[in-house]
Amino acid sequence: MTAQTITINIKIWRQAGPDARGNFEEHTLRELDVDMSLPEMLEVLNEQLTLQGKDPVAFDHDCLEGICGMCGAVVDGVAHGPEEKTTLCQLHLRHFHDNQTITIEPFRARAFPVIKDLVVDRSAFDRIIQAGGFVSVNTGAAPDGNVLPVARHLAEQAMDAAACSGCGACVAACPNAAAMLFVGAKISQLALLPQGRPERERRALAMVRAMDREGFGSCGNERECEAVCPKGISIRNIARLNREFLRASLAADETA
Ligand code: FES
Repeated sequence: MTAQTITINIKIWRQAGPDARGNFEEHTLRELDVDMSLPEMLEVLNEQLTLQGKDPVAFDHDCLEGICGMCGAVVDGVAHGPEEKTTLCQLHLRHFHDNQTITIEPFRARAFPVIKDLVVDRSAFDRIIQAGGFVSVNTGAAPDGNVLPVARHLAEQAMDAAACSGCGACVAACPNAAAMLFVGAKISQLALLPQGRPERERRALAMVRAMDREGFGSCGNERECEAVCPKGISIRNIARLNREFLRASLAADETA
């Protein structure tokens, strides 16, 4: 059986560096295997560019299995492309038609400056986590965790929130470039479990302040973040973030 192949016309964002002016470049790639993923297609493009003596396209990836959240670009206006709950590395050419033109550009947000081509600096997320996205109290050893009773629905909600890989698609999709789905997921996964409760107030205040410092916007209930999230993180986590922040603010007022 011969592999099914496809021709794809690509309009791709090229930008030599953070301060360089970017522009779209057009390329045609022929006889691509339909089972090829988007990053694999970009590798083919890079081979072609290298043979022509041109600069290859810079793009991020790591696991290539839909797990880590390192990949990411906007394909035809949608962060991670048109398939629901699918990362860029799991988006395959069989979802496009022969001779289709696809536009690929980086996640765009003030807090995610472009480093080169499709690579953006997502370290703002790291700094938000460093501000409070952890548990620092002694929670005992693993067996102690196993004997703590946790209601099943809370454990499941915490696990769902913990699926957030921090890819940043939520920010790229939001008209306000808000990071509230990311922060909501990180706050929820800890606030829902007994081990995370002792520090919940300090965590909520510190992470929201860090989010504001980094220049992310606020949620306007557009739900674009939820629509593009490859892990299906629910905006209920944003509601929980707001509740946690309000609770922490009131507690801080009482002790002031
Ligand atoms: S490279 Fe890890 S999720 Fe895409």
